[in-house]
Amino acid sequence: MREQKVTVATLKKKKRQGKKIVTLTAYDYFTSRLLNRAGIDLILVGDSLGMVVLGYENTVPVTMADMLHHTRAVVRGNSRCLVVADMPFLSYHISDLEALRNAGRFIQEAGAHAVKLEGGKEAAPLVKKMVRAGIPVLGHIGLLPQDILKEGAYRVRGKDERSAASLFEDARALEEAGAFAVVLECVAAKAAGEITGSVKIPTIGIGSGADCDGQILVLHDLLGLYGEVKPKFARAYADLEKTMLDAFQAYKREVEDGAFPADEHSF
Ligand code: KIV
Repeated sequence: MREQKVTVATLKKKKRQGKKIVTLTAYDYFTSRLLNRAGIDLILVGDSLGMVVLGYENTVPVTMADMLHHTRAVVRGNSRCLVVADMPFLSYHISDLEALRNAGRFIQEAGAHAVKLEGGKEAAPLVKKMVRAGIPVLGHIGLLPQDILKEGAYRVRGKDERSAASLFEDARALEEAGAFAVVLECVAAKAAGEITGSVKIPTIGIGSGADCDGQILVLHDLLGLYGEVKPKFARAYADLEKTMLDAFQAYKREVEDGAFPADEHSF
């Protein structure tokens, strides 16, 4: 049977049917292949790349070159999922022209199906231009990691009425601008549920409760590769940190004591 490819229309249909949308981040070819086999709907090549793969403190240093490189690798491993490339810090702020060019590079040069960018009302006019140019856009509101230098800390949004109302306006503005879905990051669960009920486009939650139309996790959090901090909203479905460390130590032991390579590994 022919593989059914996930498109932006598939995601909207899932929302209408009340079916959950399952999404994860990935940054490389091999993981992309596994996410395809696992039946994940959408792969985000997130700029979380900066923290979980490149070792930066936050997402600010991530460049277009980094994102294009990793998006190409994910695309090479993909046959079925919707692949979304995250637009990095300052790649869509200098001018609309530059933003459109950069978004276009993800589609034409890297093979992504869509781009994601952070921001609500203020980003909506740009989103509209991208959509008009034929580039599908995934919005991102709530906690915006690219604002870390301005904000000084990562904080939950939508806890009080004013903040929740502002998030509503953001979600509606993105919907009107033509975004095909919107990520709600660290939005209080009540506000996230209400936003989900009030827009026609799917909401994809991270740290935003169970009522969003879909969920996304950073791959490393799902695999138990936390590094320094374990986010409250993450659940590890494996303990790869331990598995990998055990494997590295076993290899070291066996090389040192001569148990590896054995006869079957030699020519
Ligand atoms: O970069 C990323 O991984 C993201 C998700 C957390 C939504 O933006």
